[in-house]
Amino acid sequence: MIIKKFKNCGLVPRFLFAFCLSNIKFLMRIKINMEKLRVHSGHKLFGSLKVCSSKNAILPILAGCVLCNGEITLLNIPNFSDINKMCEILKSLGCIVNYFNGVLHINSKNVDRFLVENSLSKDIRASIVFLGALLGRMKRCVIGQPGGCLIGNRPIDLHIQGLKALGANIYEEHGYLYCNGENMRPCTFKFEKQSVGATQNLILASVLLKGKTTLKNCAKEPEVVDLVNFLKSMGAKVSGAGTGTITIYGVDELHSTIYLPIGDRIVAGTYLTACAITGGNVEICNINPNHLSSVLKKLSFCGCQLCIKNDKIKLLANQRCKSLKSITTGVFPKFPTDMQSIFLSLMAISKGKCVITEQLFDGRFKQVPDLIKMGAKIDTFCNMAVVTGVENLSGADVSATDLRAGAGLVLAGLKADGYTTIDNVQYIDRGYDHIENDLSILGAEIERIT
Ligand code: EPU
Repeated sequence: MIIKKFKNCGLVPRFLFAFCLSNIKFLMRIKINMEKLRVHSGHKLFGSLKVCSSKNAILPILAGCVLCNGEITLLNIPNFSDINKMCEILKSLGCIVNYFNGVLHINSKNVDRFLVENSLSKDIRASIVFLGALLGRMKRCVIGQPGGCLIGNRPIDLHIQGLKALGANIYEEHGYLYCNGENMRPCTFKFEKQSVGATQNLILASVLLKGKTTLKNCAKEPEVVDLVNFLKSMGAKVSGAGTGTITIYGVDELHSTIYLPIGDRIVAGTYLTACAITGGNVEICNINPNHLSSVLKKLSFCGCQLCIKNDKIKLLANQRCKSLKSITTGVFPKFPTDMQSIFLSLMAISKGKCVITEQLFDGRFKQVPDLIKMGAKIDTFCNMAVVTGVENLSGADVSATDLRAGAGLVLAGLKADGYTTIDNVQYIDRGYDHIENDLSILGAEIERIT
């Protein structure tokens, strides 16, 4: 109707109308990118919060949905932008995807495409696991390069080596990976180094491959175990997840399932650390404490009191935290790199000096200049940061450079005099479902502004 009306107008209004229509998406994106978080310090955190299912568990599970010739229901699913992007890829492959109130339904009966457009793959690292899943289902895949947070060099050589060992023919042209899996067969493959994504990719590529595949030097992260549990709930035969050796016996097909992914250990760790920073007493629910053991140990060394019962962790912080002598990131069960960005803020306001060594990604100190702007004392040398704790930070306008760095700045803002404004919130939204709502439930003064 409106379009008809405009057809009868002059050329200029018609041009303006067309211009507005074509730019509405662009303008909406600018609006989202203009959103900021404003944090006011001075509030201790109290209360109880249930964390959502883990982003890094859900993303490979979503890729795994294309292996199923049926319907999948996933529970307790948060509204993270990375999850929405994976759902867009599923739709582009022929899946029907519906999300309502934390429940995600995926019907993958009609998957009939094997192309993941660059426009869909480039924003998200986990898009690379569609490679294994599509080789498993369609025996071929054409996929754009993966993107994701700029936390340093993120190669995919281990993924490619493993898939080639399974017999996939892979070459790169015009920014796309062209993969033919018609001659794929089971094998024994040892990863040169542990990689979460590469382990998940190889598992996804093997579950429908007749025979026995053995993967060695696998990543042991809970998110790998959860992917395997999800696949097993659809009838896959996989053993050894959580150890260095995973064995997969290919089955003919995977059936429908209803699955509840594990709670998000990094979101849980973020809110516990927030309480350590502000002081207070919080309870975080829906989290397996074993998934956070290295983090809980560090929080306890800092002087926090912890009480752990089943899937609940209570943290009491009634004094300024003591600095840790050192934090060194590593693969599970060592200290997670994602929590390093969060602990950088805790160490910035703790009593003493801490040396942080980042072993996984070379771009994980990007928030340091902003923390220094807020009054932190931090020196960085290559993959190390020496943090001398100060009693208080001061609020400033800062910018999220990636998901966890952004969350770290929010936490620093909770202990910074006055207001801290954090822009580039879209990075934080990749892995927290409105972080301001969760922190407000715990008593923080934080709001989203434009
Ligand atoms: N690596 C290679 N070659 C590869 C793959 C990885 O050299 O082919 C290296 C990486 O450069 C890194 C190490 O191996 O130094 C480990 O990387 P990994 O492959 O395990 O990481 P990932 O699968 O890309 C996942 C999470 C990250 C998390 C890391 C480490 C997802 C979607 N991402 O990434 O989470 O930091 O494991 O635990 O699961 C986040 O949530 O913000 C995030 C970045």
